Amino acid sequence: MRKLILALALAGCGGKQAPAPPPPAGELRQAAPGELLAVADFDVIPDVAARSRALFGEMTRVITHARCINCHPAGDTPHQRDMEIHDPPVVRGPDNRGVAGMQCATCHQDRNQELTRVPGAPDWHLAPIEMAWVGKSPRAICEQLKDPSRNGGKTLAQLVEHTGHDKLVAWGWEPGADREPVPGTQAQFGALTAAWVESGAHCPEETR
Ligand code: HEC
Ligand code: HEC
Repeated sequence: MRKLILALALAGCGGKQAPAPPPPAGELRQAAPGELLAVADFDVIPDVAARSRALFGEMTRVITHARCINCHPAGDTPHQRDMEIHDPPVVRGPDNRGVAGMQCATCHQDRNQELTRVPGAPDWHLAPIEMAWVGKSPRAICEQLKDPSRNGGKTLAQLVEHTGHDKLVAWGWEPGADREPVPGTQAQFGALTAAWVESGAHCPEETR
């Protein structure tokens, strides 16, 4: 009993914890919030496959951000804000562009509308169901991105092009209203993707 009280007392006194030690040589530094590590930061990892996995890990800080997965849902409904169900209720419909009377383009234009808060970018529509990311592990998303039967028939080079230049991807950095943008810049994200592909496009280990 005394031991328990002592443990509780110790747990209760804050400020005792030592600050996180700086990473030992050869380890990746921590990105600040909103920052994306640059490709050169990964030079500290000499093993190519390990570097490739780490590069993908950094890419997932963009991929699994609400700005991206809100449009890559596992069901028929887009999400908004912090992964809430889209309000008003809308569904993907036969071509991922909604249904008659409730087409995405009824409300979403080719740019953000500041007054009404409606986000926009050219050809705004949902990612096809085979490109769903919600609820998937980084490894599962990684394998899926490389699979032409689930990535819209893209080669790895086309995937690099898509991440660096696609207009719907670009919207993640200019989301309008009070939405939090994805970290870094699209150019950096494209460069990370290119470096991941050049290093063999290895996927991270399953964490669960
Ligand atoms: C407005 C909806 C929308 C948003 C927002 C969006 N995407 Fe997509 N995404 C799509 C659609 C639609 C496709 C399919 C386009 C195609 O195949 O040409 C797609 C396809 C992709 C692909 C290629 C195929 C694959 O395997 O999934 C990648 C990579 C991708 N998106 C990344 C992103 C990233 C990163 C973000 C956030 C920065 C993002 N997307 C935000 C709609 C969206
Ligand atoms: C009746 C109008 C309307 C229709 C139709 C509509 N949306 Fe929206 N959508 C909105 C509004 C308004 C918001 C902004 C909500 C907010 O943030 O306050 C929004 C937000 C979103 C967001 C959230 C962006 C984010 O990260 O917060 C996504 C993704 C989205 N819509 C996708 C779609 C897709 C895909 C379709 C077609 C299947 C569609 N919407 C149809 C009005 C509509």
